[in-house]
Amino acid sequence: MYRSWIVKLNSNARFSTICLHAGQEPDPATGAIITPIYQTSTYVQEALGQHKGFEYGRTQNPTRLALERNIAAIEGGKGAFAFASGMAAIGAIGTLLKAGDHVVVSDNTYGGTFRLFDKVLTRYQLAFSYVDTSDLAAVERAFTPSTRMLFVETPTNPIMRLTDLKAAADLAHRHDVRLVVDNTFASPYVQRPIDFGADLVTHSTTKYLNGHSDSVGGIVIGVRDDDLEWLKFVQNAEGAILGPFDSWLVLRGTKTLPLRMQQHNSNGLALAEFLSAHRRVKRVYYPGLPSHPQHDLAKRQMRGFGGMLAFELGSLEAARTVLNSVRLHALAESLGGVETLISHPATMTHASVPADRRAALGITDGLVRISAGVEDIDDLKEDLSQALDKI
Ligand SMILES: Cc1ncc(COP(=O)(O)O)c(C=O)c1O
Repeated sequence: MYRSWIVKLNSNARFSTICLHAGQEPDPATGAIITPIYQTSTYVQEALGQHKGFEYGRTQNPTRLALERNIAAIEGGKGAFAFASGMAAIGAIGTLLKAGDHVVVSDNTYGGTFRLFDKVLTRYQLAFSYVDTSDLAAVERAFTPSTRMLFVETPTNPIMRLTDLKAAADLAHRHDVRLVVDNTFASPYVQRPIDFGADLVTHSTTKYLNGHSDSVGGIVIGVRDDDLEWLKFVQNAEGAILGPFDSWLVLRGTKTLPLRMQQHNSNGLALAEFLSAHRRVKRVYYPGLPSHPQHDLAKRQMRGFGGMLAFELGSLEAARTVLNSVRLHALAESLGGVETLISHPATMTHASVPADRRAALGITDGLVRISAGVEDIDDLKEDLSQALDKI
């Protein structure tokens, strides 16, 4: 009966409509408009071999399935698989490789990704080269006959360097290499790598997709049938699944992704402009500023410039003063939540990166990172202003 008011998405449904509705329909048992949290480990079968497509909670869960379909549509992919964390999702991508394979990776990729590749996957005869992927000639030089994957983050954390996604996809495909994009930092509102030719996209859903700093999770979105088949198999075989409650939280988060991202974009740009004009600030890293070396590329491949920015204060003392003086900005790791976070990459997110590597990447002791939330921009500016005045 409820089927008469099921929301049907047209094939040309726009982004906000997809975020709200894709993958979901009223609950068949009650008509509940919100997909329930199917908190169950198993499903009763009607007769031997007769069931509704759900047999065991690790293998299938309706809440997780709704989320996977939702995010696959949001990223423009063919399918998606949700994992217990962003790192579990990247670990699943690693299982697409075989001993002897080689991967080219963005040189200032997330520290946890570097740790997984460098300390775990190298034990399985996989090799990784870390390259500035904003320089595609350098990427091409790093390719070997064994290269199977180009793993890119754009913008990078926290220096906000960009990789040209279309050119990277073309280059990768000329060499029969898959382009994998960790899209956590931008979110699919800001850029959809699959539109530019990426083969796989991954997210820490912990960040913008959930958006409320109350869940840890990850997802992989794919376009190739062979990749999707393997990821589905590995999700069940390894079992690092996203639980039903977390799936539900992220599904609630994606409904407001466009609304939140508009405010993240607008607050990110306003803070970057405010900081650029401040006498205590030596440099601001934000792709939305005309001073950013890849501003033209940012305008081409991003919709808005995101909520992440970093700025240089010149010394650890100055950074410490600001970090200890802010009141509204919360001193915390992570990003992408509705509340504004401030952090010190050199001693927090990038503490495990060796000092010489940090220096080469521009992660100095005076560098401060902000994940702009959705508060009133004047309150954020006032808070930063009083903190900068204490230097
Ligand atoms: C870009 C990026 N990728 C992956 C991850 C890992 O995600 P999680 O912490 O959900 O495992 C993070 C976490 O900060 C991240 O920033």
